[in-house]
Amino acid sequence: MAIKESELIARIKATVDESALADLRVELLGRKGLVTEQLKQIGSLPPQQRATAGAEANRLRQALEGALSDRQTELQRARVSAELSRPLDLTAPGARPSFGHRHPVSLVLDELIDLYWQMGYQVAEGPEVETEWHNFEALNIPSDHPARDMQDTFYLEEAHLPRTHTSGVQIRHMEANKDKLPIRIISPGKVYRNEDEDARHSWSFYQIEGLVVDEGVSVADLKGTLQAMMRGVLGDKTKVRLRSNYFPYTEPSVEMDASCIVCAGTGQIASGTCHLCGGTGWLELGGAGMVHPQVLRNVGIDPEVYSGFAFGFGPERIAAIKYGVDDVREFWRPNFKFLEQF
Ligand code: FA5
Repeated sequence: MAIKESELIARIKATVDESALADLRVELLGRKGLVTEQLKQIGSLPPQQRATAGAEANRLRQALEGALSDRQTELQRARVSAELSRPLDLTAPGARPSFGHRHPVSLVLDELIDLYWQMGYQVAEGPEVETEWHNFEALNIPSDHPARDMQDTFYLEEAHLPRTHTSGVQIRHMEANKDKLPIRIISPGKVYRNEDEDARHSWSFYQIEGLVVDEGVSVADLKGTLQAMMRGVLGDKTKVRLRSNYFPYTEPSVEMDASCIVCAGTGQIASGTCHLCGGTGWLELGGAGMVHPQVLRNVGIDPEVYSGFAFGFGPERIAAIKYGVDDVREFWRPNFKFLEQF
């Protein structure tokens, strides 16, 4: 099939906008374009004609590429100069900048920080890459202790790891402030675990840690504080329960649950077992307990004189309950339609 080069160049020159030119480029040079087809046919020519035909096809391709790129430059110039010559309307409304907004988990953290601030707590921070001592050992979890299995780390190298919980901040703060008691802190921050994800678990999530150390601190203080927190952040209707639990760094230890928002605490929804709470009716929000005397000793505080309580909560789970979100992984997906609702 003979291709008339002059006709093709004329078509390119006659193109009036950039999108039509892009279409024409595909028609001429694309994978199924005219020139490609011509190149494919070379194989069926007698051997002595192939070299000439190949050279001719390549020359045609270069000529078309040149013409397309010249026309592209002309059309671009014409577009820009048309835009620049448009009269400037100073009274036209400006383009509204996008301001962004707080992330739902930040909203919950801010609320919790405010609540504890009113109760006289300070905010303490710790590093996300933590030492093995602060993350485990000072919390009564030596390397051969089965409690290490409760929090699988991503890696552990040269006695450092991405922290698996915020409880290391307790240790850091007590070490630095053991001569300035009492202590009353909360510590929000990101933590990382080697976990399989589901509606209640993600591999990276926030925690908010709390610690009080003073003379005469009791379980009643802990319970009152947890109740005040849940009432403050989720409202008076939320049911709260404390179950006995085990953490190596608290004694006694408890788990604090709040009633599930999807099934209203029943464990069942129309389609069967509630997917958020897994049928239990409760959402596990955090662990707590009285600071273990050995932990106080580890940081140089005398457990005969001082006692304390500590807690660690998952703000994603609190946000899920508060805003009726049935999967905590949604919070960390780049889904603006979802995030802009809060
Ligand atoms: C702890 O991390 C303890 N350090 C809490 C603690 C602090 C106990 C102080 C005693 C004294 P646990 O592994 O249960 O405990 O995690 C605490 C909370 O973090 C959970 O209740 C849950 O709300 C949240 N959480 C845990 N794992 C995940 C996960 N994979 N995704 C989202 N949230 C999680």
